[in-house]
Amino acid sequence: MKLKMEKLKTILGKHEINEFEIIELGSDITDAKTQIVASGYGSQHHIASVVFENEKGKYVLGIRNANAKFKSGALKKFSNSKKLKMVSPDVLAKLSQIAGSVCPLTIDPKEVIVVIDESVAVMSDIVCGTGTIENAIKLSRQDFEKVMGAKYVRVAEVQYVRNENELDRYLSGVAPSASEVHLGNYLGAMKQFVDFQNTPGTENYYFLADYHAINTVHEGSSLRSNTQNVMLDYLGAGVDPEKSVFYIESQIPEIFEMTEVLNNAVTLGEMKRMHGYKDKLADPNQDENSINMGLFNYPILMAADILLFEPDFIPVGEDQAQHVEICRDMARSFNSRYGDILKIPELYVKEATGRVIGTDGERKMSKSIGNILGIFSDDNVIKKQIMAITTDPARIKVDDPGDPDKNPIFYYLEIIGHDKSKIEEYRERYRKGTIGDVEFKKEFFEIYREYISPMRDRRAKYAKDMDYVNDMVKENGKKARDVAMGVMDRVRTAIGVYRV
Ligand code: ADP
Ligand code: TRP
Repeated sequence: MKLKMEKLKTILGKHEINEFEIIELGSDITDAKTQIVASGYGSQHHIASVVFENEKGKYVLGIRNANAKFKSGALKKFSNSKKLKMVSPDVLAKLSQIAGSVCPLTIDPKEVIVVIDESVAVMSDIVCGTGTIENAIKLSRQDFEKVMGAKYVRVAEVQYVRNENELDRYLSGVAPSASEVHLGNYLGAMKQFVDFQNTPGTENYYFLADYHAINTVHEGSSLRSNTQNVMLDYLGAGVDPEKSVFYIESQIPEIFEMTEVLNNAVTLGEMKRMHGYKDKLADPNQDENSINMGLFNYPILMAADILLFEPDFIPVGEDQAQHVEICRDMARSFNSRYGDILKIPELYVKEATGRVIGTDGERKMSKSIGNILGIFSDDNVIKKQIMAITTDPARIKVDDPGDPDKNPIFYYLEIIGHDKSKIEEYRERYRKGTIGDVEFKKEFFEIYREYISPMRDRRAKYAKDMDYVNDMVKENGKKARDVAMGVMDRVRTAIGVYRV
């Protein structure tokens, strides 16, 4: 083992390669997959090296990204072989290698035909085996090329490869287009983020979609303060940056590169069917000259947010369902051209709270309509919002019998999960006219305040420690970017970006 590492270091020394990392893998390595997990670097940074033998008894060393699969026809063509078979562990031993941790750097290029797939050409760093079970090595692609050469051919198909043991991945975002989130955002989306975050067997990616907000927020200082506020709202709601990968869209420049790729995976006709655009156009005060391309293209940016992270599920409110659907279509369209590259995510909308009704009792709760119930606003603001709730208009005197279906407070009590028997009591009293609307609203204010108080307390704690919050977002941003970079590499390879 020591000998192999010495040999590796000698070769690196010969090529004047000083910047590399020897990764300790621990003792549970059984195959390439466990090696990838143990290395701490995602599969996008790993290469797989396979030794074959051809019909003339010549060895062929095939190298590809860990997420790609060899195409045997192409591999034969580029190695001038008619037949290829993988060599046995005994043969590997003769080349000082072991199965599962082949180190291409220590294989003498005079002994083998080296064929390197294009999927390696776009990798920034390369993690590969060392010929030992205990270690892997990471080095830059430039240094890898010093040893292996930089001739790339297309002998493998990059593919989305799902490891069965992988966790279910959830991803969603909220645009900081307002200075705070409301009960609709919380129950429609954020509460699910927290529930999934706290469910074993899941991985969670939640972010602030700041570039989505520049569509309506046109002042730098407002975007900055909204972002910070909504960031704290997320944390107040219970998203924990030590459990979820919590980041800001703008930390991941690959998203904007991916947006351009996806521009080519959707038609104008499909885009014109998007609600956001159609609703704007239906407004008599708007026409094509007042609708900016940011709004029109919004679903493409959103699809890039999603597809670069390969999530299984997208928890959102019902109003986003169409966007997730078009994202799936874009992924399918891309895959139909380039192969099985992008993972198709599933929409997750919670039925009971996918569309929270506003205080007018009719329309979707939305900041732009002004029918919201705040969570983190001052008490007096929330009290005013509650007092403005539209109730049964037929009820004139306080002791008139009321119709609970015409008072949205009953609905709010239900969706915030208030005690069922207590709701029933209120219903009785309301029907009989023994509780007036104002009295009921005052009591609801107290109930609601109790419901939101843990969130407000949590938010206040985080707000006192912005250094911690910023550090966490910075760290999480790096983690998220690492995932996005891997998928972007795969996409670049698939579309044929030429690297010199
Ligand atoms: P808004 O719609 O208020 O501008 P966002 O568009 O940023 O807020 O929405 C963030 C999340 O909250 C999305 O998943 C969205 O579907 C959800 N959401 C917004 N309003 C509601 C609502 N009234 N009911 C349910 N979910 C909602
Ligand atoms: N468009 C979403 C909204 O307005 C926010 C968002 C942006 C999003 N990118 C996303 C949601 C990706 C889920 C996944 O609510």
